[in-house]
Amino acid sequence: MQSETIVVDTNITLRYPKSSDTAALYAVIEQNRPYLRHYLAWVDETKSSEDTRQFIETTAIGRAKGDNHEYLIWFQDEIAGFIAFNTIHHHIRLAILGYWLTEKFTGHGIMTKAARALVAHGFSTLGLHRIESRCALSNSKSQQVLERVGFQREGLVREAIYEDGNLVDAYQYGCLAEDLK
Ligand SMILES: CC(C)(COP(=O)(O)OP(=O)(O)OC[C@H]1O[C@@H](n2cnc3c(N)ncnc32)[C@H](O)[C@@H]1OP(=O)(O)O)[C@@H](O)C(=O)NCCC(=O)NCCS
Repeated sequence: MQSETIVVDTNITLRYPKSSDTAALYAVIEQNRPYLRHYLAWVDETKSSEDTRQFIETTAIGRAKGDNHEYLIWFQDEIAGFIAFNTIHHHIRLAILGYWLTEKFTGHGIMTKAARALVAHGFSTLGLHRIESRCALSNSKSQQVLERVGFQREGLVREAIYEDGNLVDAYQYGCLAEDLK
């Protein structure tokens, strides 16, 4: 069963993005372009609030089919970032995890808490068996998030992730329910 809202703690809540969030989400993307564009290929392709509106609409269509599962991360009443099972492979109960924070909200454990909550939800409520994520070799902040949650580094995949206009090698991470910390 899907949950529209996941309460992480008294300050942090995960909520499905709605079309009414378009302006606020586009504003944080605009404010954080230099920070976000390094590891996220879609940032340069997001050129107007219409792109963000279409993205939100697309997530809702996929979610209705159970193909993906996105949440805005709210810190009190501000958008702090985004976390998602970008793809869900139903037949093998596998999901791919992705996330970002606005620069202002980094360094406080918000993503670690959000990822732990979403991953726990994935196992307990969505019935997932395995969750995967990949990080560029240089993206130690993202690797640390995954490792704090309990993901294991399982290998290196070649030229498999975006970094600053290039496709670079990535660490492959995986998490089973028993790995969760
Ligand atoms: C990846 C990303 C989300 C990590 O952000 P982050 O702020 O380092 O992660 P967290 O929110 O979990 O915060 C961890 C930091 O808070 C500290 N912290 C404080 N309280 C904490 C708590 N209760 N739990 C965990 N960490 C805590 C940690 O020590 C760590 O500090 P450090 O930055 O000095 O090492 C961020 O760098 C980002 O958005 N990058 C751009 C997009 C991106 O790379 N996405 C991933 C692609 S694979």
